[in-house]
Amino acid sequence: MAVLVTGGAGYIGTHTALALHEAGRQVVILDDLSNSSERAVDAVRSLMGADADDVPFVCGDAADVELVSRTIIDHGIDEVVHFAAFKSVSESVERPLAYFANNMGSLIGVVEAMAATDVRRLVFSSSCTVYGEPDEVPVTEASPTGAANPYGWTKLHGEQFLEQVASAGDLDVMLLRYFNPVGAHPSGTMGEDPHGIPTNLVPFLMQVAVGRLDRLRVFGGDYDTPDGSPVRDYLHVVDLAEGHVAALDALGSTPGCTAVNLGTGRGYSVLEVVAAAEQVLGRPVPHEVVDRRPGDVARIWAETELAERVLGWTAGRDLTEMLADHWRWQEAHPAGFGG
Ligand code: UD1
Repeated sequence: MAVLVTGGAGYIGTHTALALHEAGRQVVILDDLSNSSERAVDAVRSLMGADADDVPFVCGDAADVELVSRTIIDHGIDEVVHFAAFKSVSESVERPLAYFANNMGSLIGVVEAMAATDVRRLVFSSSCTVYGEPDEVPVTEASPTGAANPYGWTKLHGEQFLEQVASAGDLDVMLLRYFNPVGAHPSGTMGEDPHGIPTNLVPFLMQVAVGRLDRLRVFGGDYDTPDGSPVRDYLHVVDLAEGHVAALDALGSTPGCTAVNLGTGRGYSVLEVVAAAEQVLGRPVPHEVVDRRPGDVARIWAETELAERVLGWTAGRDLTEMLADHWRWQEAHPAGFGG
């Protein structure tokens, strides 16, 4: 099987490309490098023991139907995992147009190219953000959907678009609703390397720990949660990557469109994550509690039963392992792939 991984130079994309390769699939990476670098592709090839002929890289935009179609034909692609998208909640609140144009444009481009080349199996990178502010936790795949920010709306509209294309019989799709991926490959050679100042919690915290940033701001201490800070379901990026392999494997026997949560089923508050990181580092991480961040929800974690039943997948790595692996990468590469 040959898999096209759009956004394959990104954080989840690189880890997934590696997991797919380890599972015996041919991998082709397409990425416009807008929030990643070619060094990430070099790192993933090196972990695979592969070169550019084994794992081709195409630099370009997933919205470019002609480019994606040509890539599918040239490399005999049978399946697609689509990551290529912007992913910052806070940036999406400031730049909704950019988020809709990029995230919907790339998704439509990929689906058009798949239709033009008769490729029907797709895994879509969705998010627990489609549950908006949930009334009840854990959330199941049948929980009400909504969105608390433009990023969330692009994921929800993306899911609705795919459901309709699938119900017309043109696609088989897994909508993978990720909770909060953190961690890095345990080798310490590949991890998250966002351009500019990170907006996600763990990359920001680790850049404070490595001395690139001076203190972590904890967004909100007055939520209706045990310690007042928001609660999320953090999962190891390697578990998440393995979930994509399981999703592609399951697609053969699961036609149509299926939404599946990928999380651990356990929530931690921001302050609990900071305390766990301090344990791993063996020293305090400077932080202060500040105002809430617009677009954030108070608490969310996953019901994981469907992932276990449909994909045969569970997330086995715990918070300490996530933070230890993230730190190994960050400590060895204080400036990300650049050094
Ligand atoms: C959101 C989405 C998630 C998506 C991710 C992509 C929701 C519920 N979740 O995650 O599905 O994969 O965006 O980026 O919409 N925080 C701080 N200080 C910081 C950064 C974050 O306190 O400097 C807090 C946030 O308030 C939040 C938690 O840490 O409570 C996690 O934040 P973040 O890592 O940005 O992810 P989400 O916003 O939860």
